[in-house]
Amino acid sequence: MRIISPSVLAANFKNISEDIKKVESAGADRLHLDIMDGNFVPSITFGPLIIDAINDCTHCHLETHLMIQNPHKSFDQYIKAGSDTLIFHIEASNNPEEELSYIRENNVAAGIALNPDTDEKCLLPLLDYLDYILIMSVFPGKGEQSFINSTLKKMENIVQMTKGRNITIGVDGGVNLDTISEVYATGIDVTIVGSGLFKSDNISQRYQDLMNA
Ligand code: DX5
Ligand code: ZN
Repeated sequence: MRIISPSVLAANFKNISEDIKKVESAGADRLHLDIMDGNFVPSITFGPLIIDAINDCTHCHLETHLMIQNPHKSFDQYIKAGSDTLIFHIEASNNPEEELSYIRENNVAAGIALNPDTDEKCLLPLLDYLDYILIMSVFPGKGEQSFINSTLKKMENIVQMTKGRNITIGVDGGVNLDTISEVYATGIDVTIVGSGLFKSDNISQRYQDLMNA
């Protein structure tokens, strides 16, 4: 069963609740929220206040993707704002075991994101601490980038590595009508779709097309 997590970074920020309602009525029950700090990645997007506002206008599961330096310093703000899954980058982490445990202790699902050039073997000592693994299929920092095909093998490897464990695997970046089928063929659980969904003329129809591609 495909699970699409729309990346609201690509939504119409002039009326974000309208776009959220569109994807909810199309069937989405999960949203992806991209936090960028201008340090870990060059762009700056939005922070906990926006998450709090989004949390007030949806019942979707909110997966917050922290593309920030020293993520542990901000965990409390994003937990308080309503994140249901909190994901930080292994490349920005000081102590992943401790940080994942802290998130779990706050009754939020704990996730780690991996850049395309980070070896998935770094996950092996963390599997007992993980609820979610986010595999980046673009380098983080902006939407509307092209899918990096070499990450497909990494997806297959991580699916194998986590067999029998209750870890959700997401793929983030460049997922669209052209790439979504080969991504799901690797055995992953969730695809994050931003521009491939919100930039279409008919969001509801596109959501269905992505589910059936
Ligand atoms: C990139 C973000 C992605 C991005 C996805 O740094 O983490 O979530 O917004 O957008 P598309 O689907 O347009 O690549
Ligand atoms: Zn993301």
